[in-house]
Amino acid sequence: VKYKGKVAIITGSSRGIGKAIAIQMAQQGCTVVLNGRNQERLDQALAEVKQYQDQAISIRCDVGDSEEAHRLVEETVSRFGRLDILINNVGVSNRGKFADTHPDVFRKVFDTNLFGSVNPTVPAMPHIRESKGSIVFISSLAGIRGLPELSAYCSAKMGLRAVAESIRIEEVKSNIHVGLIYVGRTEIEPNKEAIAADGSLVILKERHAEKLPSTGDVARSVLKNIDRRKFITTLTTIGKIQAFLQPRFPWLIERIVIRASKRFTAANE
Ligand SMILES: NC(=O)c1ccc[n+]([C@@H]2O[C@H](COP(=O)([O-])OP(=O)(O)OC[C@H]3O[C@@H](n4cnc5c(N)ncnc54)[C@H](OP(=O)(O)O)[C@@H]3O)[C@@H](O)[C@H]2O)c1
Repeated sequence: VKYKGKVAIITGSSRGIGKAIAIQMAQQGCTVVLNGRNQERLDQALAEVKQYQDQAISIRCDVGDSEEAHRLVEETVSRFGRLDILINNVGVSNRGKFADTHPDVFRKVFDTNLFGSVNPTVPAMPHIRESKGSIVFISSLAGIRGLPELSAYCSAKMGLRAVAESIRIEEVKSNIHVGLIYVGRTEIEPNKEAIAADGSLVILKERHAEKLPSTGDVARSVLKNIDRRKFITTLTTIGKIQAFLQPRFPWLIERIVIRASKRFTAANE
């Protein structure tokens, strides 16, 4: 029970990777605060998490809205008196070529991925400083370089790196941990959505045929990042190769992606 007495907010934890992180933290004794917009999904996830830690609660809010995200942090602290860990997990990706993309798609994707992380992090800072705790940003391999038909998602996830780097320098004396996780392609829950070029929501194809890491695998790596107070954790072999090559031989990665782009975009449908 490594996290006994600690309090964690995991944004977007009513399903997928966020829920897996919440379950594993609860199993280690952490008091977790679940978050999402859909009440029914949130209730189901809370019932699951409570099997391991009965103090868990859920707070329904849209972290893309700064006032709602502020309430998420304040309600947590007034209920439990502290905040040790904030995991900014909420995210949504886009689909479609840049030239076909309505500019508002960028706004929606940034609202969720970038503002959805900034909005709870700003009010959490004083509490995380007090507990000398952790702030973790869940990024993607799409945050390492621009990829085809994912321009909005790649830009928003890249922005998370800048936010994390700035905080680390500003807070060097406060002894807080800031982590950034580059998550690779992972199994998804049915009905996971993305934003199409015209702004409508599309349901992603299921990925059963592929041999992918599970949400539990990703959650284990996130917990390891927190335990070791590491900055960057890059998941999957492809991810590690990409992260190594990108700053050294960006032209090589570009060529590989151009060659594989048909396969790449088909897999992302
Ligand atoms: N799955 C992958 O292959 C993969 C790969 C790389 C990176 N990632 C990253 O990992 C993170 C989680 O992905 P996932 O696949 O687990 O996603 P998911 O299955 O779509 O789950 C997203 C969760 O966030 C909640 N959510 C979405 N927008 C929200 C908002 N504005 N405010 C509050 N809650 C919100 C959703 O619940 P409601 O809809 O009810 O709000 C749900 O609980 C994301 O940041 C994603 O970019 C995933």
